[in-house]
Amino acid sequence: MRYLTFALTKGRLASKTLEMFEKIGITCEEMKDKNSRKLIFVNEDLKLKFFLAKGPDVPTYVEYGAADIGVVGKDTILEEGRKLYEVMDLGFGACRMCVCGPESARKVLENNQLIRVATKYPNIAKNYFYNKKHQTVEIIKLNGSIELAPIVGLSEVIVDIVETGSTLKENGLKVLEEVCPLSARMVVNQVSMKMEDERIRKLIHDLREII
Ligand code: PRP
Repeated sequence: MRYLTFALTKGRLASKTLEMFEKIGITCEEMKDKNSRKLIFVNEDLKLKFFLAKGPDVPTYVEYGAADIGVVGKDTILEEGRKLYEVMDLGFGACRMCVCGPESARKVLENNQLIRVATKYPNIAKNYFYNKKHQTVEIIKLNGSIELAPIVGLSEVIVDIVETGSTLKENGLKVLEEVCPLSARMVVNQVSMKMEDERIRKLIHDLREII
């Protein structure tokens, strides 16, 4: 039997994924050692391999077949636009992609004015404004703390993830429009889906039972 390789998103998504996998009997003791500098972890009995990667790299590993399966946020799947199968909503990591800004920005959004939109997700923002709203905007790519942009006058609005809403609230910003709901998804390489059909189907089936 060949190894089935999983690419997990470093951080909270990976911990949640491993918790979920434990419930269906998939464990990886090696991975629990927080001091380990190892990058790839193996469960020899089940012939599984796991590695941790930065979110935006997970779809890349899966598209190229370096990982058969990935667990990654829907935001990253949409932004990266890789060729892969999205097979399952894992339910955790639920949040929303939203257009946010000060209340005063609501008017400029409604009037279809040429506005600046700051975001870590330029492809999602482009798709939303150009294809869905048919509104021409200037997209400015940032790498974090997106909420700063309208506060310091870099942009009128932002497209960003809202989970509890507290970052917005503490900075005097609001959700102005919802782009889409998000959560952790399981993705599968297109060739692996055919070659490892049975094992992958069983995994999906077992996970469905506990979700
Ligand atoms: C995310 C997101 C928001 C915040 C939303 O940022 O970009 O800033 O969380 O969460 P809340 O609605 O519960 O306040 P993250 O902490 O991942 O860091 P970043 O700002 O560097 O992207």
